[in-house]
Amino acid sequence: MTSTPVTVLGLGRMGAAIAALLLRTGHPVTVWNRTPGRGADLTGATVATELADAVAASPLIVSVSASTTTAAETLLPLGPALRGRTVLNVATGRPDQARDLAAALEPHGARFLDGAMLAVPQTLGTPESVLLHSGSESARAEYADVLAAWGTARYLGTDPGAAALRDMAVLGGMYGLFAGFFQATAMVGGSARPFTDDLLLPWLRSVLDLLPMLADEIDSGEYPVSFSDLAVNRSGLADIQATATGAGVRTGLLDPLLRIFEEQEAAGHGTASFSRAVAALHPAAVD
Ligand SMILES: NC(=O)c1ccc[n+]([C@@H]2O[C@H](COP(=O)([O-])OP(=O)(O)OC[C@H]3O[C@@H](n4cnc5c(N)ncnc54)[C@H](OP(=O)(O)O)[C@@H]3O)[C@@H](O)[C@H]2O)c1
Repeated sequence: MTSTPVTVLGLGRMGAAIAALLLRTGHPVTVWNRTPGRGADLTGATVATELADAVAASPLIVSVSASTTTAAETLLPLGPALRGRTVLNVATGRPDQARDLAAALEPHGARFLDGAMLAVPQTLGTPESVLLHSGSESARAEYADVLAAWGTARYLGTDPGAAALRDMAVLGGMYGLFAGFFQATAMVGGSARPFTDDLLLPWLRSVLDLLPMLADEIDSGEYPVSFSDLAVNRSGLADIQATATGAGVRTGLLDPLLRIFEEQEAAGHGTASFSRAVAALHPAAVD
């Protein structure tokens, strides 16, 4: 494995864990944080007090700021000092922000990769820690060893926004799951933990295994019923909402889905699979 000097900008929970990971995998690491005083516990790392010194220290700059916006605010004022550097931004952000940052770095002679980490500090470096990344193909090839340190590095092509788009979509799916979890625990009341362990978690795990079947329905464009039609799900969700309301629990997290089921049924799609809700999210596709 090659050893590549890497600078890590931002030593919050993720930045500190990334710096430690890169040190463990044999890369010389320079660190910088906006607020001084962080990084002293990273044995083997060089702590830079000036941002310009940190950027000058390594050809590869890993930016782990709070967001892509704050990463841009930190990096772009450096201007010509970025020449010849490669920036890997692993902060969470939108695809358009990643594209804008790539375009703003280019005149300074810096290459750009945008990264999206499907990981938490504790899982970094393990196979289930995924680093989606997109942008400069040459940078990706040159720093493949460093990228591999994250665990599973997946390159999504030259569009700098490609990784962020997948990240936003995956996180959107996660928040949908959390919305259901919050609704369920509020309805049951009492202690959330036994209900979660005994009933909800086993059920949700088995439901997750059905997602590929629903994906096939969506891909077909016809929404054939694999196991449950839209009218049945509209009725069931309406009962869930009524039960929650009767128990004095707000239903705002699931109301929009019920409205979509109702619209789709009213439009004559009650016998299609409930996955037809996806069509309602693309207004142009609704007939
Ligand atoms: N933690 C996770 O499990 C996780 C998982 C996946 C992705 N991420 C993403 O990784 C990024 C960092 O997350 P984190 O958990 O490490 O956050 P964090 O612990 O809150 O650290 C935030 C870092 O950003 C810096 N920062 C904030 N605002 C700044 C600004 N305006 N200019 C310059 N630096 C600024 C902070 O510096 P100061 O010390 O000076 O405030 C700190 O170094 C986020 O985009 C997050 O969404 C995190």
